[in-house]
Amino acid sequence: MTESLVPLGSGQMFDRIAARYDTVNRVLSLGLDQRWRRRVVRALGLAKGELGEHPRVLDVATGTGDLAIEIARACTGASVVGLDPSPGMLAIAEKKVGKRGLGGRITLVEGDAQALPQGNCEMDAATIAFGIRNVPDRPKALRELARVVRPGGKIAVLELGEPRKGPLAAMARFHAHYFVPKIGALLSGKREYAYLQKSVAAFPPADEFARIMRDAGLRVLEVLPMTFGVCTMYLATPAEES
Ligand SMILES: C[S@@+](CC[C@H](N)C(=O)[O-])C[C@H]1O[C@@H](n2cnc3c(N)ncnc32)[C@H](O)[C@@H]1O
Repeated sequence: MTESLVPLGSGQMFDRIAARYDTVNRVLSLGLDQRWRRRVVRALGLAKGELGEHPRVLDVATGTGDLAIEIARACTGASVVGLDPSPGMLAIAEKKVGKRGLGGRITLVEGDAQALPQGNCEMDAATIAFGIRNVPDRPKALRELARVVRPGGKIAVLELGEPRKGPLAAMARFHAHYFVPKIGALLSGKREYAYLQKSVAAFPPADEFARIMRDAGLRVLEVLPMTFGVCTMYLATPAEES
């Protein structure tokens, strides 16, 4: 396959950067990415048993499995399905899951956010971290999340964005526009990390994305900007049928 045929943002693109993905993530986020994921786990209320003693959780765009692992660690009764189209990312996830002895509780499957293999209302919760940005039809993926989670269940979307106002917005934009593509290129793939910066800049502002979620059949419970809005958590539940 020639370089130009690899669709940017697709599983194929992530196959190419899988080996260095975790290291580059930690460096580019200045170590904050794991903190953001843990915030999602807390918001789901899994450790407090808010979704039952044995919640079934789907982590879409699981990549190398960091969020799936955090969920399984936080709630020992949880069973987690990590879904991603990239076999390269899933291979790394599998190694990490095995190393942590979580193979019995985390299942990894190849799949697409736009056509989830789960049945209606099959899951107690679903998450997607830094993944919705890459999905070509975002409303379709959001409708799929609303479909597979049971009424009263939780859906959390974690996504990067560009802070547009506030005193630190300029600094955060400098980080995104210069640091991310340069360090990303140095440590991993030039084209891939230029894409990362562009896709973050093109992602809708938080209030607009929350509206897209509502239009897709979700009731938005909370929109939480973190680290000056560099990263936002959207917490939702399937909207009641009228
Ligand atoms: C930036 S990584 C995020 C991985 C992980 N969730 C994390 O927290 O690090 C984005 C992931 O989205 C996946 N992806 C791309 N297109 C997708 C799609 N249509 N459906 C589901 N996942 C997709 C990629 O393969 C990649 O693993």
